[in-house]
Amino acid sequence: MINPVYSASEDRYEAGMKYRRSGNSGIMLPEISLGLWQNFGDTAPLARSREMLLHAFDKGVCHFDLANNYGPSYGSAESTFGKVMQSDLHPYRDELFISTKAGYDMWPGPYGNLGSRKYLMSSLDQSLKRMKLDYVDIFYSHRFDPDTPLQETMQALVDIVRSGKALYAGISNYPHEAAEYAYRYLADHDVPCLLHQVKYNMMHRVPETADLLEQAKEAGSGLIAFSPLAQGLLTDRYLNGIPSDSRAARDFSLKASTITPELIEKIQKLTALAAERGQSLAQMALAWTLKNDLVTSVIVGASSVAQLDNNLAAINNTEFTTEELNIIDSLTK
Ligand SMILES: NC(=O)c1ccc[n+]([C@@H]2O[C@H](COP(=O)([O-])OP(=O)(O)OC[C@H]3O[C@@H](n4cnc5c(N)ncnc54)[C@H](OP(=O)(O)O)[C@@H]3O)[C@@H](O)[C@H]2O)c1
Repeated sequence: MINPVYSASEDRYEAGMKYRRSGNSGIMLPEISLGLWQNFGDTAPLARSREMLLHAFDKGVCHFDLANNYGPSYGSAESTFGKVMQSDLHPYRDELFISTKAGYDMWPGPYGNLGSRKYLMSSLDQSLKRMKLDYVDIFYSHRFDPDTPLQETMQALVDIVRSGKALYAGISNYPHEAAEYAYRYLADHDVPCLLHQVKYNMMHRVPETADLLEQAKEAGSGLIAFSPLAQGLLTDRYLNGIPSDSRAARDFSLKASTITPELIEKIQKLTALAAERGQSLAQMALAWTLKNDLVTSVIVGASSVAQLDNNLAAINNTEFTTEELNIIDSLTK
């Protein structure tokens, strides 16, 4: 069936989304961004991917987060995005903030992984072709590579921005010391780091313990949180077992063995607390990460428009009482 021509909702910026500034930059990002890691590859129905992307945009979600190896299969989430870009979102390119990354394994041999200039540059060229874009808004070094001089990785980011293939540079999953070097190098070369992308949710607090939040602030960088729902654990998804269409059923990035009766008991208690706040657990989990104004945005994943809508309502209440925070700490820390 031929899709009807898409025309974006006229009130997309009055639909309730709020925007936060990324560090000291000129860029505002939606408090909730959409990530294409798992549910937009060539094993997912294109119609559903398209529906989620267009629905998100209609709700003011103008930031989409990708990487070279998102799928499955590798590269296919970018290809899906490229198809929707071409069929529907093309007229709105200047309203979109699109990321991609390179750093994890992508193609065989010594040049398809980690942090070399060779890998980053050729990977971005491939990503642009798949996404049918002339440039991305931000290109990230996806992880710190201890065996490549950080100077080489950072200079590749600087040169990528200078080439116009990315407007901004970012880092992801960098430990504190490497992030410090990256912030300084990029600033010294007039390409200040726009974002550090890190895993952050109530069950994973490394950005607090490793002092990455304050560090980003002091460097003038934003910080964007991925897996804010702990890949679906901080939702109602697993309260009654492991659904066959869920991420845990695929047993890859989220292992079914992590879903123990003890964990479910805690999730039940968190769900009850969320209900007292008038929220779903997913909404409370997102609100918890967003309560810190050093967090520029949270990147959610979703496998349906209903999940996405549920998540978008999180921003209506991001205030917590001390008592609520204590209960959350006692269950998750
Ligand atoms: N930089 C990095 O190294 C890195 C690493 C990981 C992720 N990321 C980025 O962060 C994005 C988000 O990561 P993530 O997918 O792990 O995020 P997440 O938001 O923690 O988990 C998403 C999953 O939770 C479930 N879910 C979402 N909303 C729900 C709701 N309202 N009710 C019930 N279940 C719900 C869905 O599971 P089902 O699919 O089972 O329905 C969904 O796929 C990625 O797409 C990617 O862009 C970056």
